[in-house]
Amino acid sequence: MIKKTIRDVELSGKTVFIRVDFNVPIKEGVVEDDTRIRGAIPTIEYALENGAKVVLASHLGRPLKDKKKAEEKGVEFDVSKYSLAPVAKKLSDLLTKPVDFEDSSELSDGYAKISALQDGEIVMLENLRLNAGEEKNDPEFAKTLAKGVDIYVNDAFGTAHRAHASTEGITHFVDTCVAGLLMEKELAFLGKALNDPERPFVAILGGAKVSDKIPVIESLIKRKVDKLLIGGAMAYTFFKAQGFTVGKSLVEDDMMPTALEVERKAKEAGVELLLPTDHQVVDSYDPINSRKAIQIEFTNAGLVGLDIGPDTAARFAQALEGAKTIVWNGPMGMFEEKPFDEGTLAIANAVAEATANGATSIVGGGDSVAAVNQAGLADKISHISTGGGATLEFLAGDELPGVAALDDK
Ligand code: 3PG
Repeated sequence: MIKKTIRDVELSGKTVFIRVDFNVPIKEGVVEDDTRIRGAIPTIEYALENGAKVVLASHLGRPLKDKKKAEEKGVEFDVSKYSLAPVAKKLSDLLTKPVDFEDSSELSDGYAKISALQDGEIVMLENLRLNAGEEKNDPEFAKTLAKGVDIYVNDAFGTAHRAHASTEGITHFVDTCVAGLLMEKELAFLGKALNDPERPFVAILGGAKVSDKIPVIESLIKRKVDKLLIGGAMAYTFFKAQGFTVGKSLVEDDMMPTALEVERKAKEAGVELLLPTDHQVVDSYDPINSRKAIQIEFTNAGLVGLDIGPDTAARFAQALEGAKTIVWNGPMGMFEEKPFDEGTLAIANAVAEATANGATSIVGGGDSVAAVNQAGLADKISHISTGGGATLEFLAGDELPGVAALDDK
């Protein structure tokens, strides 16, 4: 897969451009979750310790798309929310080292700072997506990014499913292009799970929409995952397709035939597909009231399901016993709203326990990772993936353009 990593190249005195994924939540100028920043630190420290001049680059959000939307709606657009300056500050705190910040989105004077860099120094560029050339993979912009760069390192696994100027285009203008240590680690864990898993292999998928997960479900069935546990609102599409009443729970009606097809394929492949047996329902969620756990078949037309119930949590935990590989992506309910985080937290505990008993566990996706962190279990999971969409595309068996670009060198 990956031919070369940062360990395979001589870095001393070289200008090293490291593409990281620092697309992190920021509230009032403060980084709320630094998982992705911490994930890239081994690569950054390795480059600095080996005498490189380090240029760091990332995107943050989708500023140009959001600006267009704001203009269409005639609402004010605050571009300052898309600045990576708070991230540079957070990184500097984590590294206990100054991180210079290049605040020109056009890079007009960016290279003045870069050419003045000394060995072991670091500069971070402003949000790449403030420049229209980034998402368009404009060769001119890619060439500008590559100016003065000796070595390109892609450590942005979370953005590897995008063919953008800083993830793909730039590799056409720099001779030496390698993977960073986080990219290497992500591909090693996910690649092993997908292509050569130790069995039993159990996958847990959740989230609101089954349509988002169909390619992953099909890829996992094709690879004959031993058990596939499905929770979250996406389970209601399966239940409605089977003829159950799901009340006002979230359903994608147009995906019902696909859900039945998935069940058929799983059966044919000998994959055990487990759906919830009970769930937490309310009769109104604005305001939330009268939460109760009931069996799926007792759901009446007025109810809405917002989390898996205790029987399901126990059954899913039992299904994880003895697993040797576990991949989990997506929450079991409306995780962001207490107490509907309980089902997801129960799964986080069960995955941690199975890991202590010998499973290799991989957790990806915002809410599942947040659940693991909230439960204080991050160090009890084998690998926490920094990818959202990238992890799903990888598990679906798709080639990631950011990885393919390195392989082509
Ligand atoms: C992510 O958060 O999944 C990555 O940073 C990619 O962001 P994008 O979906 O805006 O390209």
